[in-house]
Amino acid sequence: MTKYVNAVIGDETGDASLPILEGTLGPQAVDIQSLYGRHGILAYDPGYRSTASCKSAITFVDGDAGILAYRGYPIEQLAEKSRFLEVAYLLMFGELPSAAEGTAFRDSVCQHNLLHEQVISFYRGFRRDAHPMAVMVGVVGALSAFYHDDMDIRDPQQRINAAIRLVAKMPTIAAASYTYSTGRPQRYPRNEYDYAGNFMQMLFGMPNRDFVVDPVQVRAMDRILILHADHEQNASTSTVRMAASSGANPFACIAAGIASLWGPAHGGANEEVVKMLLEIGTPENIPKAIARAKDKSDPFRLMGFGHRVYKNFDPRARVIQESAREVLAHLGLENDPLMAVALELEEIALRDEYFIERKLYPNVDFYSGILLRAMGIPTKMFTAVFAVARTAGWVSQWLELHNDSTHGIDRPRQLYVGSGLRDYPETRG
Ligand code: ACO
Repeated sequence: MTKYVNAVIGDETGDASLPILEGTLGPQAVDIQSLYGRHGILAYDPGYRSTASCKSAITFVDGDAGILAYRGYPIEQLAEKSRFLEVAYLLMFGELPSAAEGTAFRDSVCQHNLLHEQVISFYRGFRRDAHPMAVMVGVVGALSAFYHDDMDIRDPQQRINAAIRLVAKMPTIAAASYTYSTGRPQRYPRNEYDYAGNFMQMLFGMPNRDFVVDPVQVRAMDRILILHADHEQNASTSTVRMAASSGANPFACIAAGIASLWGPAHGGANEEVVKMLLEIGTPENIPKAIARAKDKSDPFRLMGFGHRVYKNFDPRARVIQESAREVLAHLGLENDPLMAVALELEEIALRDEYFIERKLYPNVDFYSGILLRAMGIPTKMFTAVFAVARTAGWVSQWLELHNDSTHGIDRPRQLYVGSGLRDYPETRG
């Protein structure tokens, strides 16, 4: 049982003060690094609700105001004006690229987007019905065997090379996990397309006919990639950072991130949203779903609603809803039944006291599934698309961690609640 005491901390001089750190934006942080050393007491924060695990200059989220910015640029502006590779460069290097830097970056990505032919043979070891995220965890982890011995992660240039390799290869890896599951031949990357267009040709192209680019869908895919590219210290990013803090191989770190992203409370949610909307089927079944979501004895949650950080509209949800409308109209699917259920569900939930009180708003996943489905991406591939996008953020956070010489290995402590010390019974000896 938990004992509650009013803790009074202070050293022998009576000094209990701890420094307050000030960021550029967002809340201040109490620096508790010396807490245990000086006072012999730990901070308890399971789930890290009040913990800044690192200093970072990459992404800013203000959950109350509904703001998301990469390197200071609001996500809405990037989604409208930028392209994914430019955003990836911005995340990795801190500034928008000049024309020459942008071209050089694109050339490097194009140079590294092929997979070693031996890697392709790994796919055949998986069952055809394997989940693409399971395949991606395996294949990305396996890449560490190809780029390990000759890699020195203490060398900044080698770190950048590894980061570019990961951004370059991830669409090829994800697309191959899809084509393998359908029995179609794996497609090679084609450098005449941009990043999103190339990803789509690898997903949908056939060897017996030319791939026809649909600029509306390619733009929508590019936006999806931009919106999902980074989101500060979420579960998968923290996983990447924690794995990286031990000096692990970057491909192994990103494989760990993919594993964490897969969970339904994180990147797996858009898959769950579509399943939920299909299950609801028609608007008249919405009240039943809302009642179930509010019933504490029922594990059902309204998927695509709520967020650990956003206690206001997720800014990405607005952009993605607009993109979904555009693509549905372009494809003549204005009356998509899933979209009709989603819009009404959102409207009803946003008027419901339960959701208002708990500040549960639609998150990015609420509409992304509808959009991806309209574009012909199978539900099982949704989180794999997210992983392609988030690789840009993961490698940027990985680079930042390695550039910070003050950050040692991550090693949280615990509040031990197990048995007290006891002797091994004599009778068992
Ligand atoms: N449906 C119904 N009730 C909910 C939901 C939901 N989607 N989300 C939270 N709640 C309720 C909880 O039951 C809890 O109620 P209580 O105070 O009466 O006990 C309260 O709201 C707070 O919920 P927490 O679980 O403490 O919120 P937390 O910040 O830990 O969880 C999370 C955030 C995991 C995203 C949660 O809202 C959820 O499960 N949502 C559905 C899954 C989802 O959409 N995930 C995608 C997140 S975005 C991303 O990863 C890209």
